[in-house]
Amino acid sequence: MLRPIRETFDPEGYPDLLVGLTSPDDAAVWRLNDRQSLVFTTDFFTPIVDDPYAYGAIAAANSLSDVYAMGGQPFLALSVAAFPANLPLEMTREILRGAAEKCREAGVVIGGGHTINDEEPKFGLAVLGMAETGRLLSKGGLRVGDHLFLTKPLGFGVTTTAHKRELVSEEELREAITWMSTLNAAAGQVALSQGLSGVTDVTGFGLLGHLLEMTEASAVGAQLRFDALPFISCAHKYAEEYTFPGGAFDNREFFGPRVRLDPNLSEKEQMLLFDPQTSGGLLMGVPEGNLEGFGQACRQVGLQVWEVGRVLPGAGVQVTRA
Ligand code: CO
Ligand code: CO
Repeated sequence: MLRPIRETFDPEGYPDLLVGLTSPDDAAVWRLNDRQSLVFTTDFFTPIVDDPYAYGAIAAANSLSDVYAMGGQPFLALSVAAFPANLPLEMTREILRGAAEKCREAGVVIGGGHTINDEEPKFGLAVLGMAETGRLLSKGGLRVGDHLFLTKPLGFGVTTTAHKRELVSEEELREAITWMSTLNAAAGQVALSQGLSGVTDVTGFGLLGHLLEMTEASAVGAQLRFDALPFISCAHKYAEEYTFPGGAFDNREFFGPRVRLDPNLSEKEQMLLFDPQTSGGLLMGVPEGNLEGFGQACRQVGLQVWEVGRVLPGAGVQVTRA
């Protein structure tokens, strides 16, 4: 899709654009000098929950996440919004308040933005962050032998689609909203403090799609253990109801041929691996020698993590039961 852009801008003409035209990463990175780089990203989407405050908070956490995934500290944001002309003013205010309070929690100020009229609401942020030029995180930084860790459970897509069909209880929705609106700030901080290099955030391509992006950019293979994967408590229930969003089927079609799935995994379990996530956790590779320090750093900041697999020589991703 971005080919016309790549064809117009020759990377050699932009030596300070460290990440952007040639690598499939979470955000663009612009070198200011040998110490500091800017990390720049944008993301926006249609409502995934009814609650306008939660929608704003989730959209903000999701937009900020790509800066954390690159090893940056976000500091400035602009809102990007499309709202229907007949949307009650109170709703618009709640969306913006959710985003503003989430940004304030992250130490980010919203300095303005742009809103247009559209029938279907859309909301997100453009975000600017600062990173150390020599300590960037990227999809291509996995190394053979790394242990793979995930910092949020999965199952947001199948649950929010069940919510749209009015199947989800208040308590189940609360659990999903709490995770989706959780900042990846602590996870990014731990990744940096431990000197990790291979990191991304799990979003629309689902766990398998994002892991495949990483293994291909890193020229390695990987194994995931299904039974080690964390899911929010109602994910399996709604997988049974088969309330997967369209993106899950797109992901299976696109990434399926490049993964080897344990034949003992049921159809629904397989679909959970392709389920698109909104504001998912960070997926990171931790070298064997860093495991102890990593565990300590996680405990220090109260970050919950799950070890889900290993990086292997070769190519592609295999998913085993255990
Ligand atoms: Co991302
Ligand atoms: Co993104």
